[in-house]
Amino acid sequence: ADSRLWGGRFASGPSPELTELSRSTHFDWRLAPYDLAGSRAHARVLHAAGLLSDDDYTAMTEGIAALDGDVRSGVFRPEPGDEDVHSALERGLMERLGADLGGRLRAGRSRNDQVATLFRAYLRDHARQVASLVRELVEAIAGQAERHLGAPMPGRTHLQHAQPVLLSHHLLAHAWPLVRDLDRLREWDVRVGAESPYGSGALAGSSLGLDPEAVAADLGFTGSAANSIDGTSSRDFVSEFAFVTAQIGVDVSRLAEEIIIWNTKEFDFVTLHDGYSTGSSIMPQKKNPDIAELARGKAGRLIGNVSGLLATLKALPLAYNRDLQEDKEPVFDSIDTLEVLLPAFTGMVATLEFNTARMAELAPQGFALATDIAEWLVRQGVPFRVAHELSGACVRACEERGIELWDLTDEDFAALSPHLAGASEPGGVREVLTVGGSIASRDGRGGTAQARVTEQLAELRARL
Ligand code: ARG
Repeated sequence: ADSRLWGGRFASGPSPELTELSRSTHFDWRLAPYDLAGSRAHARVLHAAGLLSDDDYTAMTEGIAALDGDVRSGVFRPEPGDEDVHSALERGLMERLGADLGGRLRAGRSRNDQVATLFRAYLRDHARQVASLVRELVEAIAGQAERHLGAPMPGRTHLQHAQPVLLSHHLLAHAWPLVRDLDRLREWDVRVGAESPYGSGALAGSSLGLDPEAVAADLGFTGSAANSIDGTSSRDFVSEFAFVTAQIGVDVSRLAEEIIIWNTKEFDFVTLHDGYSTGSSIMPQKKNPDIAELARGKAGRLIGNVSGLLATLKALPLAYNRDLQEDKEPVFDSIDTLEVLLPAFTGMVATLEFNTARMAELAPQGFALATDIAEWLVRQGVPFRVAHELSGACVRACEERGIELWDLTDEDFAALSPHLAGASEPGGVREVLTVGGSIASRDGRGGTAQARVTEQLAELRARL
């Protein structure tokens, strides 16, 4: 059957090449349940406007329900002659209700306002799905942070030892960006949910006295589009959604990269669970962090999707242009990517084993306590500029002799500066030359002291 929605003014049907190029059912079929929900809402306003009799309305809703059932069971599928999901479903309705009644539903709506509405509805559902997967990842990170409260590790800047921090503090630094991604998804949803374009028609609005606000409410939106041209032709809701998925990918890839590094022989900070790592076909000893590597790689793909979308949207004149059919595959791909990546990544994080003894041993090395000497001096009244110099002199002395800061004797300290004399006395500088002392001293809000990290964990969980 020819399900074209636009045959009237054409003497011939479309060429096979055009049909092949134009067809989108192989990717937009996933929108079918949303299109049917739109049809139900549209039938209701047609009825309310007196454009469908009571009997026709009843028959129409039964026909839509039957088609919905057949779509869900797979009995009804798009055929090669169907241009897109909308034309396929219209064919389905006409097959069930006859062309006369089935053909009435199209009054006052266009595929342009249909697709703009149901694409929003689809993305809103998947925003919730993605958010719940992100929440599970945040919970896995928080669980590891809670299990390792008190365990120190080397904190780094420039990938160099900087200052000791708690492993929990470091892990939670990966959770907060994901919490902000959850905020982004929520805020996006509020914005998108306020503007249902149903009723915008092809671009100019409808002349049939339909009620866009009623359709919007029916479809779970809080309001309808204020401008029918904007409603049918803008896709910033798609690029913004794609951006958030790309940001999630980027945030996950940063943790992925660290897990890859931590899992090397040289670092030896973590052991991956067998169920979340892979072997090599030739090297029997290998245990590879493939999930983390795929996370790192897929972040690139998610970035590519948002870039591609923006390139499609750039300089499109108003209103609807067929270019907009290219808006779906990239963001569908981003959703599919996150929906398979996040559960695997969460499983890997939840089952990671940390080599806390090794992390603790390395935490103070590389003169990571030099800042503590400088700050101890400041507490003795020494200006920070001088304190920084003196602590630097301690580091230089150690480097020359191949020792660490705590190996300096009281005489060494006294020789470096009278301010450092009496190193081993109560309150002396040696007291801050321990990882525990260093970490405990950073007790301002946001700091790595254990009491602050415990509070932070509660604050993070309250945000979920
Ligand atoms: N399938 C199209 C899309 O995804 C909607 C159809 C609008 N087509 C048209 N010729 N106005 O954007």
